[in-house]
Amino acid sequence: MRWCSLRTRRSLVDLSDLSGDELEIIFTRAQRFEEHPPGPLLAGVACVNLFFEASTRTFVSFNLAELRLGAHVVNLSPKDASLATKGETIEDTAMTLGAMGVAVFVLRHPESGYAGKVALAFDGHVINAGDGMHAHPTQALLDLFTLREEFGTLLSRTVAIVGDVAHSRVAHSSMLGLRRLGADVVLVGPPEFVSEADAPPGVTIERDLDKIAPHLDAVILLRIQRERIGAMPFSEEEYVARYRLDAQRCAALPAHVVVLHPGPYNRGIELDESVLSFAGWRYARQVMHGVSVRMAVLDLLVNGPADAAC
Ligand code: CP
Repeated sequence: MRWCSLRTRRSLVDLSDLSGDELEIIFTRAQRFEEHPPGPLLAGVACVNLFFEASTRTFVSFNLAELRLGAHVVNLSPKDASLATKGETIEDTAMTLGAMGVAVFVLRHPESGYAGKVALAFDGHVINAGDGMHAHPTQALLDLFTLREEFGTLLSRTVAIVGDVAHSRVAHSSMLGLRRLGADVVLVGPPEFVSEADAPPGVTIERDLDKIAPHLDAVILLRIQRERIGAMPFSEEEYVARYRLDAQRCAALPAHVVVLHPGPYNRGIELDESVLSFAGWRYARQVMHGVSVRMAVLDLLVNGPADAAC
């Protein structure tokens, strides 16, 4: 019997939806799925992916994760959905999909809070693939998984999140996860991108990347979210001079440091070409882990915490 039939159906809107045990289950399963590809754990389970914003990594990664678990996958384009042109509400769309037996609804939308709103209306599992400036939980999970692969435990590791924190849903979810795993988180950027309001309790702010660089275990670079900013609050040259990771700044980082980026990255802005061949650059591992982490999330939500073999 499926776990979801025994309990309230669960969604993943942000990392706060997951208990500590569930975080560990996701990491353990993702690791196992990479070592031993699982059987069709989602055989016959219908998943609908609806992305209202552009996406390469998250969209393809969810598709692959669902397909590798044997799910039935439907990609609904927003321009083809009735809610775009025929006046249907997203709540009615969700109810309609549920009536067809759709169990998993993966959503990306520019409005903060959108996935949470749909989760209230959908009789199944909503997975937030990014909502406005609010949250991107599976990106945070794959970042955490990548850092744990590197360091084992994140306890007392210092992780800098550098750049446009204010407009980044990735940063908001990653901060949550890093703090829960015991990392020291420091936000680095100009006041327009990193304000006191962006730093939850226990998270510090540093304006000078060069000052803190030698003390870091990991760096998460962020793209400037131009699509969410009216006008740039300062010149690109000014930003590049103070915050772009380049060969000189990489040389100032400790030898064991790793550098992550959720992608898409903008060459010449938050990093230069030299970073792409830096020994600590882990972008490809993040992307690779993204598929197995999303498989683990799907398996946990649909099948529950007990392993399939039990
Ligand atoms: N990291 C991330 O969300 O990338 P996409 O926008 O390509 O999905």
